[in-house]
Amino acid sequence: MSDLGTSGEPAGTEQRRDPPAPRQLARGGGGATAIRGGVHTDLHHDSAIKHVTGRAEYCDDIVEPVGTLHAYLGLSTRAHAKIIDLDLSAVRAAPGVVGVLTADDVPGVNDVSPTGRDDEPVFAEGKVEFWGQPVFAVVAESRDAARRAARLAEIAYEDLPHVLDPQSARDAGMPYVTPPLTLKRGEAAEAMARAKHRIKGRFNVGGQDHLYLEGHIAFAMPGEDDDVIVHSSTQHPTEAQHMVAHVLGVASNAVTVNVRRMGGGFGGKETQMNLFCAVAALAAKRWNRAVKIRPDRDDDMSATGKRHDFVVDYEVGFDDEGRIAAVTGDFAARCGFSSDLSGPVTDRALFHADNAYYYPDVLLNSHPMKTNTVSNTAFRGFGGPQGVIAAERIIEEIAYHRGLDSLEVRKRNFYGDAEDGRNVTPYHQRVEDNIAPRIVAELEQSADYRARRRAVLDWNAKGGIVRKGIALTPVKFGISFTATWYNQAGALLHIYSDGSIHLNHGGTEMGQGLNTKVAQVVAEELQVDVDHIKITRTTTEKVPNTSATAASSGSDLNGMAALDAARQIKERLTAFAAERWQTDESQVRFIANNVRIGGETVPFADLVREAYMARIHLSAAGFYKTPKIHWDRASGKGRPFYYYAYGAACSEVSVDTLTGEYRVERTDILHDVGRSLNPIIDKGQVEGAFIQGMGWLTTEELWWDDKGRLRTHAPSTYKIPLASDRPRIFNVELASWSENRERTIKRSKAVGEPPFMLGISVFEALSHAVASIADYQTCPRLDAPATPERVLMAIERLRE
Ligand code: MTE
Ligand code: MOS
Repeated sequence: MSDLGTSGEPAGTEQRRDPPAPRQLARGGGGATAIRGGVHTDLHHDSAIKHVTGRAEYCDDIVEPVGTLHAYLGLSTRAHAKIIDLDLSAVRAAPGVVGVLTADDVPGVNDVSPTGRDDEPVFAEGKVEFWGQPVFAVVAESRDAARRAARLAEIAYEDLPHVLDPQSARDAGMPYVTPPLTLKRGEAAEAMARAKHRIKGRFNVGGQDHLYLEGHIAFAMPGEDDDVIVHSSTQHPTEAQHMVAHVLGVASNAVTVNVRRMGGGFGGKETQMNLFCAVAALAAKRWNRAVKIRPDRDDDMSATGKRHDFVVDYEVGFDDEGRIAAVTGDFAARCGFSSDLSGPVTDRALFHADNAYYYPDVLLNSHPMKTNTVSNTAFRGFGGPQGVIAAERIIEEIAYHRGLDSLEVRKRNFYGDAEDGRNVTPYHQRVEDNIAPRIVAELEQSADYRARRRAVLDWNAKGGIVRKGIALTPVKFGISFTATWYNQAGALLHIYSDGSIHLNHGGTEMGQGLNTKVAQVVAEELQVDVDHIKITRTTTEKVPNTSATAASSGSDLNGMAALDAARQIKERLTAFAAERWQTDESQVRFIANNVRIGGETVPFADLVREAYMARIHLSAAGFYKTPKIHWDRASGKGRPFYYYAYGAACSEVSVDTLTGEYRVERTDILHDVGRSLNPIIDKGQVEGAFIQGMGWLTTEELWWDDKGRLRTHAPSTYKIPLASDRPRIFNVELASWSENRERTIKRSKAVGEPPFMLGISVFEALSHAVASIADYQTCPRLDAPATPERVLMAIERLRE
């Protein structure tokens, strides 16, 4: 992945292995003209060395107070059943056990549903609705004792009928877990009827487990009165705080949630941590001791939500040239037993069912189906990838039908501009920043697509066992939370009298480099080396009412809030300097660890010291809210997205047609992050997202047996990409010319999720290789994930 040695030091030197030397504070001088770690420069992740040497502190590394207890969940072993009897006597009697907790022990509300729908109990009450649902918790002196005791429960069930997948749920008339969405523009049925060609199809796209390296964990410490402090690995400390308060029946001001970092979240820790925080806090208050809860991987995978799998029924009308006239689509998702984030996730699938293409007449419906499975949740792209791949499948269908190169069909259907009027999305937002055509044109050149496609066709024409495929797919991804109020952020900045800076903001660090980027923004604004800025843990005590670090908006929102805070202090320092040095404010400039005041150069730390002595306020709270956005869900109209991020990938694969096994020979990526705050971190995000997207569509398969038990519940049965699965040749570039036309933080663009969808190029390349079996006459019926088994079955179907 990304090379960490980007600050100039060669890899493997002593400096890189040793902890950084004690810092010289910003004394200035030295003749340096530029600061270290400003924006738009490569700077390695602030914790990179700590990550790889094991010195980074994760939740489970926090020193345990004497008497710390450990909780473990008892999970249901039925997909849908009444609880007839819950006998926990053997659990209570087990060695080391301090007590158990059930729904009866909840002093507040037995609910952790993030949307306030009251449909997600902490502990099942009266009935269970999926295999793996928490029924009770056992608290013991050690984790091992708690874990062993949890298995001793005697639960009598009376089975009820269960429905597991979205299609059966629709057939069985299961309810929606949350209201569905319709997006409509024009008259799709009429346009469809008029279209020269029409294709109807169904596409199944699988879910995905987050497989963060660090699993769920919460560690609660009781305080006086109602107080409790919870350390957790959550993307959403504010929500965890509110949920703990809700479950304990106390005010939010009694609960503090802290997050230093996560060992990966990927959306899986946006809401799913609420349960663990609530259980730890409940036990901590009950026994007045510190309590930690950390499920093992199998329980983590069984009891917490994943990416939604979808069944997409589509119809497309088009002309001889492959130009789309109309699209209709029904998107049914496996939501699980409760709503969780299924509303916004299935909404976002519809928002991305156009990907980069203009649909003149369109009608899209979501079907958020209730199923007797774990409640599905956020996962990188948040439903967007499921929408985008449907669009790409539609393009492929058209290309095979017309005998065209699918890239040609893509280009013919790209959004246009205000002049040709082909720039309105199904949700009536205008696409004003369309750079998909340029990105694709540049990648087509740099990846040498034409010649390589020709070579692939020639190779396959020989009719050998190994077939090749190539595909170039674009992505356009909308940036902003579609829940408009979520698009706000706060930051807190202190400058201490020695000139050192303490930075806090509402975002959380999960490996994506958010803290590094926000520190760069502050370094740039105050013109001090980034090393002088202490990055501190996220805590609900410092910045309140924050949003989840999600929707890729972390640096957009928190970068702006931190900038606001830095500007406030800078203004105060400027006014002070002008007054003290008897000059005009326009004569005060912050440059490279110094401040130029009139004709004098004063080290930053000296100015701070003088300002402190003069009683200047050296702390500020910053705030930001995203402008321009609005969204009316009832009418399906608005501007839900502030802007779009774009990218494209070209992948080439080889497929063994006797076994279905394949490998990715080469991938070229050109991705748009506007003016990157930190190109090397952004590149790492693009690489990681691509690989994760490829895993979703190739080897990562979730499989429930007919009893509703998840059988792929550990890396032994669930295969994420390995280093050996990476493309043999992997060329990743950022579109260096791109600049956000909106006034985002330093004109950058969000990067976390959009490149996830670049993995679709691998899927379509596999499809291309499969299609060669029948001389590209039909679009292969290939569902995702395209495991070797599915690839082989698709080949066999074409051979029949
Ligand atoms: N990168 C790493 N290393 N680990 C993660 O958990 N999560 C992704 C993405 N990149 C993730 C990651 C997801 S789902 C999102 S929404 C964004 O990071 C969130 O961070 P950001 O908004 O600061 O980009
Ligand atoms: Mo990312 S799925 O928005 O946490």
